[in-house]
Amino acid sequence: VNGVLEIPVVFNVLYRTTAENISLAQLQSQIDVLNKDFNAQNSDYNTANNPYSSVRANVGIRFVLDQVIRKSTTKSSWGTADAMKKANRGGLAPTSPTTKLNIWVCTIGGGILGYAQFPGGSSATDGVVLDGKYTGTTGTATYPFNLGRTATHEVGHWMNLRHIWGDATCGTDSVSDTPVHNAANYGVPAVGHRSTCSGTPLEMYMNYMDYTDDRGMYMFSGGQKTRMLAIFDVGGSRASFR
Ligand code: ARG
Ligand code: ZN
Ligand code: CA
Repeated sequence: VNGVLEIPVVFNVLYRTTAENISLAQLQSQIDVLNKDFNAQNSDYNTANNPYSSVRANVGIRFVLDQVIRKSTTKSSWGTADAMKKANRGGLAPTSPTTKLNIWVCTIGGGILGYAQFPGGSSATDGVVLDGKYTGTTGTATYPFNLGRTATHEVGHWMNLRHIWGDATCGTDSVSDTPVHNAANYGVPAVGHRSTCSGTPLEMYMNYMDYTDDRGMYMFSGGQKTRMLAIFDVGGSRASFR
């Protein structure tokens, strides 16, 4: 990619209650978090005691609020089978999904904070889904997921990143500068927490692709940056966004 990649964002807000119809200020706060986290401008980027500070990355992707589309519905939860993306199921079809990142904001249910489609899938369902209670930093944003990091994590998936533990015991995320983890971490792990996998490496629990609370995650690695930017190159699965 030449220069800074700029991704237009379309928010599709589906609401039954007025609280679910989250404000423009809350949506803008989410854009602001994405811009900080993907440009090493987050206030916790320089957290002390980070054993992985040398592999921290400034990914260098900007996000621009393009449109907000709102729709009143009678559904109280949408699940994770993409109904929110389909007009014939009461949802909203994506707008220009090959050139814009569509983010659906709705009540998902089942304790799910958000989910994403990886590159290479159908454009009709492409994008990220966020529960409104875990969107942005103001309004209905709810502790301990009130710092907008659900979107940072899900956009990481949308840009081809896997969970840091590789979704298996001592699994792989196909990124060489992230260590092997036993499993997902929750809450805010203690400094110095080690994996019991081969070599007992310090875990990179402060990575956005782990499962900690929002205040516990504050970096992508250089290898993750390379993996994300590759999909936007000529011939890459998201080259249409360049
Ligand atoms: N897909 C994950 C879930 O719903 C998102 C985890 C995001 N983590 C966070 N700290 N916001 O559980
Ligand atoms: Zn995930
Ligand atoms: Ca790795």
